[in-house]
Parts: sequence; C-alpha cells; structure tokens
Amino acid sequence: MSTLEDLDRAHLLHPITEFRVQEKKGPRIVEGGKGIRIETADGRSLIDSLSGLWNIVVGHGRTEIADAVSEQMRRIAYYPSFWDFSNEPAIRLAERLTRRMPAGREIDRFLFTSGGSEANETNFRIARAYQAVKGRPERRKILSRSSSYHGITRGAGSATRIPAYHI
Ligand SMILES: Cc1ncc(COP(=O)(O)O)c(C=O)c1O
Repeated sequence: MSTLEDLDRAHLLHPITEFRVQEKKGPRIVEGGKGIRIETADGRSLIDSLSGLWNIVVGHGRTEIADAVSEQMRRIAYYPSFWDFSNEPAIRLAERLTRRMPAGREIDRFLFTSGGSEANETNFRIARAYQAVKGRPERRKILSRSSSYHGITRGAGSATRIPAYHI
C-alpha cells in the first residue's frame, strides 16, 4: 500500500522547491496545531514561526473561529461581491475596518480577496485604472523594494525582488 509520503511524491507539486530535490527528500507532513505550535506526523512539535503562510494570525486550534466558519457555511458556502451581489458578513467587516484605520490614514472602502497575491494583483489593476482615468495611461510601472516579497502570482511575483521568483 502507498504511504502518504509516496502519494505526496506522486501527486503534489510543492511551490518554492526544486522538484527533483523535493521528490528525493519527501514531505514533512503536518497533522495538527495548537496556539503557536504545529505537530508533524513523525511526532515532532515545532514553533510555527511562519504562521501557516503568515495567515494564522491568532494561532492554531481556535475552535470558536471554526464554529463561526461552520455556522456561516451551513447558511451559504460562498458568494462573491462581483456585480451587485453582496452579503452581510462582508458589509459588516468592511464597516468595522473603517473604524480600525489609524488617524490620518482613513480608508472607507474595501475589496476582499482570497489572499495576498490576489490583493496585490488587484492593487496593480486599480493603480493602472486610476492613472488611465486621470489621463496618464503610460504610468504603468510598479516599483518595489529590494528583497521584498509580494506573492506568487505573475504580477506579484514580478514585483517580488527575490530572483528565484522571477521565472
Ligand atoms: C507582504 C506580502 N505580500 C503578499 C503575500 C502573498 O500572500 P498570499 O500567500 O496570501 O498570496 C505575502 C505572504 O505570503 C506577504 O507577506
């Protein structure tokens, strides 16, 4: 019978790895997590210094969040805010965020995305659309700082100033 490691080698691609090296090395399988720690299948408990992929901002094992997600998904699995569609959780979160902005840096409109890369792709498009509307369509360059990381999609990867991401 195939082990999980065998199945991983056969069927998963791991981003930001050399595929041949990874295939030889095999996966490190994460089975659970609590607070700042994760547990791996080989019985190790590690500090999750990466916080998932910088997205576990309040720690692992928060059952109250799992309950809220479960309750919401029982009502409806997902709906976008494309076109004129909207939904109460998105509206309420956007309004709540307006009250969290630092003084002098107020933002009163939000567009939610599935992650950081998509957020940055959206920002690039909004910035370009803004320049076009202002009559400056030639202003299309995105500047980024040396060693910065902006995500793994095409545009966000290009803005990332780490050469390994520029394939
Ligand atoms: C500054 C920054 N921008 C963009 C991203 C990409 O976000 P995601 O992995 O959700 O696409 C990250 C983290 O991964 C990030 O730290």
